[in-house]
Amino acid sequence: MLDILKDHAARIGDRRIETLFDDSGRAGAFSLDACGMLFDYSKTQVDTALRDALIGIAEAAGVAQRRDAMFGGRKINETEGRAVLHTALRNLDGGPVLVDGQDVMPGVLETLARMETVARDIRAGDIADVVNIGIGGSDLGPAMAVRALSPYHDGPRCHFVSNVDGADIADTLRLCDPARTLFIVASKTFTTIETMTNARTARAWLSDHGVSTDGRFVALSSNTEAAAEWGIPGDRVLGFEDWVGGRYSVWGPIGLSVMIAIGPEAFRAFLRGAQAMDTHFRAAALPENMPVLLALVGLWHNQGQGHATRAVLPYDNRLARLPAYLQQLEMESNGKGVAMDGSTLACQSGPVVWGEPGTNGQHAFYQLIHQGTRVIPCEFLVAARGHEPDLKHHHDLLVANCLAQSEALMRGRSLNEARARVADKFTGAELDRQARHRVFPGNRPSTTLIYPRLDPETLGKIIALYEHRVFVEGVILDINSYDQWGVELGKELATALGPVVSGEAGTQGKDGSTAQLVSYKLRHGG
Ligand code: F6P
Repeated sequence: MLDILKDHAARIGDRRIETLFDDSGRAGAFSLDACGMLFDYSKTQVDTALRDALIGIAEAAGVAQRRDAMFGGRKINETEGRAVLHTALRNLDGGPVLVDGQDVMPGVLETLARMETVARDIRAGDIADVVNIGIGGSDLGPAMAVRALSPYHDGPRCHFVSNVDGADIADTLRLCDPARTLFIVASKTFTTIETMTNARTARAWLSDHGVSTDGRFVALSSNTEAAAEWGIPGDRVLGFEDWVGGRYSVWGPIGLSVMIAIGPEAFRAFLRGAQAMDTHFRAAALPENMPVLLALVGLWHNQGQGHATRAVLPYDNRLARLPAYLQQLEMESNGKGVAMDGSTLACQSGPVVWGEPGTNGQHAFYQLIHQGTRVIPCEFLVAARGHEPDLKHHHDLLVANCLAQSEALMRGRSLNEARARVADKFTGAELDRQARHRVFPGNRPSTTLIYPRLDPETLGKIIALYEHRVFVEGVILDINSYDQWGVELGKELATALGPVVSGEAGTQGKDGSTAQLVSYKLRHGG
């Protein structure tokens, strides 16, 4: 793969992206309309030869076969011996999905029906505030989706507590009335230290306010036994199977807070959107397959051009948590240094993903994106219309800004253009010096995903699009995108350090830096 990409990088050299638009058909030929959304990747260096080569790489890596293996319930998460079937959670039509010869769909649909019963019950009762306690995949998906879908909220207010920093739960509980608050303990394993610590604090908070904990807790977990031991009654425990990865789990019980916020019907629309993207991903030929193209463009930038990061820039304020959500989805999935067979990865692992909503980012870090020495491929997302008809002028400004950024990144501004802009103020060497500060190198790639409106169905499509993109990149990089061994060491050391930082154990055996930091903490914080 790397050799092929290197050849294309040499062929393309420092060609200007805008020259590709001399071909008047470029925009149409290098965009894809699928599932009602338009993915435009024409403002990149991808041309016909490069696209063919990238498709060839995907074919050679066995993307189609691996995709069929995933949907077919094969245990493609080989280091954990698990199938990868978050797609079954949105398989609303209920066609069979087999794992070890057993159809999992009756269980999935039964759990969905139970979720709906619990959600309806909570929505109909006098609960005013729902606090989802969870972290990582048990937080980011629902927190992102609840915020994204605020125009559809017609249930209790939903809050999210994730951090073990007591500030998180303390600040949240201050907003809640103990008599009318319900807690969701969301944890696939039901052992995560942050979540269990916060859950115990929530229980103590109710007791401290003289409120019975009966009926105030719901558990979402694969470890239903631990949830029962914790004292949550069976009808308030929603289980899911180990073939749902944490960062892929918003579609099932972990999405309960979303369902409580927007209602079961709108939640089904969210699932239907994801299912539409699944159907597209399974059926479309690779060159017309949106997740495949999104992955390949990213692969080109990361592996072919060596751009270590990519920015995700939603011009949709309600997608403010999307970059954080994608950080886990992409970096926990493809941030690996070992290939499937245990050998050292022959290429770089997946890129660093970061971002913020536009237009806010424009007034913060876009300076570096436009004029910094590193090229940062940008992925813009924008809706054709918003949810505020009275504020259409806001939305038009938002879209104009989004399109302006991708145009500016591509075109840049030459020294001559810069000189012309300041020629009335400066002369001679000073004119040159001033002009050079106003040059934009341009030729910086970006893609844009435009969709009609951020409704539940569209959000489902967008999230499923990114999930499948991660899958495709993982297959090509020969990574197991579904384990996360890299989080283990820090957890083990944190557990061992607990008694040390509280002063119950000494720092023997610790390095000098750690010992010094512990000592400072004990002197200043006890
Ligand atoms: O530490 C990483 C991780 O295991 C994630 O993969 C997961 O989403 C998160 O912790 C939370 O895990 P759990 O849902 O089991 O509490």
